[in-house]
Amino acid sequence: MEALEALRMNKIVKSFGSLKALDQVDLTVAKGEIHCLLGENGAGKTTLMKILYGIHQQDEGEIYLNAKKVKISSPKEAITQGISMVFQHFMLIPNLSVMENIILGQEETKMGILADKESRNKVANLSEKLGLKVRLDMLVEDIPVGEKQRVEIIKALYRGAEIIILDEPTAVLTPQEVSELFKVLKTLKEDGKTIIIITHKLKETLAVADKVTVLRNGKNQGSITTDKATPEILAQMMVGRNVMLEVVKGKVEKGPVIFETKGLNLKDKLKNINLKIHAGEIVGIAGVEGNGQTELLETLIGLCSPTSGSIIFDQKDITKDSVEERLDQGLGFIPEDRNDRGLVNNFKLWQNAILGYQKRYEKKGLLDFAAITKASETIVKNYQVKVLGIDSKSSSLSGGNAQKLLVGRVFYHNPRVLIIAHPTRGVDVGAIEYLHKEILSMRSQGKAILLVSADLDEIRQLSDRIAVIYEGAITIEGDGGDFTEDELGLYMAGGLRPESKVVKA
Ligand SMILES: Nc1ncnc2c1ncn2[C@@H]1O[C@H](COP(=O)(O)OP(=O)(O)OP(=O)(O)O)[C@@H](O)[C@H]1O
Ligand SMILES: [Mg+2]
Repeated sequence: MEALEALRMNKIVKSFGSLKALDQVDLTVAKGEIHCLLGENGAGKTTLMKILYGIHQQDEGEIYLNAKKVKISSPKEAITQGISMVFQHFMLIPNLSVMENIILGQEETKMGILADKESRNKVANLSEKLGLKVRLDMLVEDIPVGEKQRVEIIKALYRGAEIIILDEPTAVLTPQEVSELFKVLKTLKEDGKTIIIITHKLKETLAVADKVTVLRNGKNQGSITTDKATPEILAQMMVGRNVMLEVVKGKVEKGPVIFETKGLNLKDKLKNINLKIHAGEIVGIAGVEGNGQTELLETLIGLCSPTSGSIIFDQKDITKDSVEERLDQGLGFIPEDRNDRGLVNNFKLWQNAILGYQKRYEKKGLLDFAAITKASETIVKNYQVKVLGIDSKSSSLSGGNAQKLLVGRVFYHNPRVLIIAHPTRGVDVGAIEYLHKEILSMRSQGKAILLVSADLDEIRQLSDRIAVIYEGAITIEGDGGDFTEDELGLYMAGGLRPESKVVKA
């Protein structure tokens, strides 16, 4: 028997100004299916889902839910129709409790204590049935990302969602959290819920989805069931050519140490961090998010001062130098959160393309627009940033394109030491291939590179040495090839074996 159709989007067209983001896109999802939307950065995935969730209105095309034509003109209406969306940037209110966030906007809140108890029970039941562990009375600002995501999912279910959309839900999760999330999604599926998930990770797609639809350039490239798909087939459908999914890493002779930290402490957040990075070397920092990576990055770039210890760049102590002075000396920095520290959203693309490097574009006190245009256009071209022009606002960039702009800016300005956080987060496979090649080419040019990434594959493929950070301390360090994925996972979770492999650089 044919599975029932939960959703059909028919010939959806959507333009933003002169940019056609969606061009006659069809999407059919069966009830009780986990359906994955794949596609290059800027392909239109988020836009299509925002139309389904009522944030955007389509210019043309129809939406059918359970074979009935519907019009969804706001998220509120989407929720009434049983559709919920969990975004990459969670929509929770930080200074309210988990419980308050879950019931926010629902009728029961108005009916006093009795109803409160009832909703608590309902939430507790949902959480238990699905193995979605959340602490109801914690403030949202005090819980880790993985838990915030669980809160969002419970919130969706609490509102009666039948179709749940997740936009890149695994980008911020650890491998363990990813497998927990997938378990939850499969339980939901058994319960008859329909799931649409957007991801860039092909392995994950194959592990969790029943069916995949690929978008390219605002057009539907076709659908395939996962039993017939391989990572290579999916990559080919996405990009339209073969993609190297494994990194080919040549040998590079290490030069002298050009970047070093000595006994770095930051209150109780960083404990005696000693790192040495040679020219032509990539040192990877592996760790579960929240174990000091943020503090380490901010200390290295000069956004906060260490309580004790020092940072040495080319035998010069830069511990007290400002961010600007460090950039001037050739420290390049790709921050963790591109929205927070990387790009200014309402700046034009060209402004963001030189952000932090403005001084280099001054000529007799004025900005040298010829040089700025050249820089911006080179970055857009080399890093395949999909944008109308360098005068476009950065807020109109899709997630992956914003990331490519950020990486492009830093690499273009010829740094000698690179501090790179999550360089390929939210980036499509074709662009990952390109960015990895660029990072390796920086390595062959003799740059010293510190790579912080939550993506273990990335850490293992790129790093010459790997250091695991746990509770603010480096608990183990060794050559890249020394660790299996499982071992790294274990160390990241705080397990340290007696026969620890700490090797001195
Ligand atoms: N509000 C907007 N204003 C102008 N252009 C937009 C807007 N939202 C999206 N776009 C453009 O529409 C296209 C599709 O964007 P969308 O965010 O749907 O891509 P995506 O497939 O989700 O990409 P990614 O994988 O990078 O998240 C992009 O070229 C993007 O720049
Ligand atoms: Mg997107």
